[in-house]
Amino acid sequence: MTELIPAPRSLVAGSGEVRLTAHSRLHAAAGTEGVGRWLRTVLWQATGLPLHEGRELDDTEGDGIGLVIDPGLAPEEYRLVSDRSGVLVEGGSAAGVFWGAQTLRQLLGPDAYRRAPLGRDRTWAVPHVRIEDAPRFRWRGLLLDVARHFMPKEGVLRQIDLMAAHKLNVLHLHLTDDQGWRIEIRRYPRLTEVGAWRARTKIGHRASPLWEDKPHGGYYTQDDIREIVAYAAERHIGVVPEIDVPGHSQAAIAAYPELGNTDVVDTASLTVWDTWGINPNVLAPTDETLRFYEGVLEEVLELFPADTGASSPAVPSTPFSGFVHLGGDECPKDQWRASATAQRRIGELGLKDEDALQAWFIGHFADWLAARGRRLIGWDEILEGGLAPGAAVSSWRGYAGGIAAARAGHDVVMCPEQQVYLDHRQDAGPDEPVPIGYVRTLEDVYRFEPVPPELTAEEAGRVLGTQANVWTEVMEDQGRVDYQVFPRLAAFAEVAWSPLPAPAERDVADFERRMTAHYRRLDALGVAYRPPTGPLPWQKRPGLLGRPIEGAPPNL
Ligand code: ACM
Repeated sequence: MTELIPAPRSLVAGSGEVRLTAHSRLHAAAGTEGVGRWLRTVLWQATGLPLHEGRELDDTEGDGIGLVIDPGLAPEEYRLVSDRSGVLVEGGSAAGVFWGAQTLRQLLGPDAYRRAPLGRDRTWAVPHVRIEDAPRFRWRGLLLDVARHFMPKEGVLRQIDLMAAHKLNVLHLHLTDDQGWRIEIRRYPRLTEVGAWRARTKIGHRASPLWEDKPHGGYYTQDDIREIVAYAAERHIGVVPEIDVPGHSQAAIAAYPELGNTDVVDTASLTVWDTWGINPNVLAPTDETLRFYEGVLEEVLELFPADTGASSPAVPSTPFSGFVHLGGDECPKDQWRASATAQRRIGELGLKDEDALQAWFIGHFADWLAARGRRLIGWDEILEGGLAPGAAVSSWRGYAGGIAAARAGHDVVMCPEQQVYLDHRQDAGPDEPVPIGYVRTLEDVYRFEPVPPELTAEEAGRVLGTQANVWTEVMEDQGRVDYQVFPRLAAFAEVAWSPLPAPAERDVADFERRMTAHYRRLDALGVAYRPPTGPLPWQKRPGLLGRPIEGAPPNL
């Protein structure tokens, strides 16, 4: 059971085991109460053992679990010792203890991931072991695109649990796009009344002739968002919302046509987009648009509160909670070139061109967020035309944007599409469902290196971490998301957490050996991953057009 994923920094196995019984106690010391509640709940569900509160580690019986803060450890660092006195998990903060508790669950075997005991007479044991562990990166992220296909709230909570099981700590929620607006904004009800659904949906690549001729939609109420944020915080996961501007905005324009370039297109006739690709209908760069999105962001900031930084170790940390993602990617400039209004604005501001106009638009919100103690993060296009100090960059078009950003003193999250876009197919074979983009196997992801070698040590310090992105154009339900995300997210988690050697030296055989145990965990969790032998019959999508062109721009 010591086949851990992600691999810890150090693990020394002993020869005995700690048996958990109906008498075993769980002691959550000051500051770890939340972790204690989580651990007791999941282990009680899986084992039926009550794990009553103990006042301290029961050193006479040696069958208890202790959770303790050790201020000598870094916040996310933990030490797990299982020996004759029981199991002790110490962490630098509640987050470190929580990651140690995740390791403890792995040590108990795959059935520790079930939600009810199987009813067989069985023993629950933690092997004697000493583990010392800490993450390589502070930002270990997953982007979920809930705009292209809506993921109901329950599915998001489930993804948060799956992230926690893999020691990932940032959920980047892509909440708005051409194909849907997914967050209730009280002062602009049409964003969800109109923008949260479409009448039909293209099935497969945009060149596919097939349509799903039924409405698709959904959105999170403000209370749903509060619940998601709180649920994630209890698991030491921060949620970074993305409101994508000034491109990827047709759903918002369909709801409020005045947001679009009304002197170029009849925006009143636009509907929420029902197909895929890069959309020409972008926001108009007017004062009215700026005011509208300030109104949106005022509600977003309320729903995604920033960590005050003054909290005690007992308060769940919400990593990177001050960040707000404003997109900035793939904004075609044709309408701005044709729009007298946009051209007048370029003239008034004395700007060079339309790219500078976009930089001005993003810069406005970088300042607006900074004035409220927040930080803007955006896709690497926001570097074009100059970027406000303090803003951070998600490097998606390869490493280049991230390298330029780090050199210019910006923080960077590395998520290059060539490596960690999990919508891309994971095998070259003909059976992959709706195959698009690059072939990126489990091994490819395992060999992904977030820090490019051309950065100096100081520049590399700008790399906050890394993120895998799950764009859902061809993932219409949970099973499709599971298939694309797993098992590759396990490899990604190890890249983000573990101190791996250079890509060519990584021990893929050892990772695959540990994956054998990990597949049993995913089975118990009910994850519909891609089996190593290829898709199961019901995971195939015969006849659906993808875009399996190696080397081609993968945009749908
Ligand atoms: C992106 O994939 N357009 C960020």
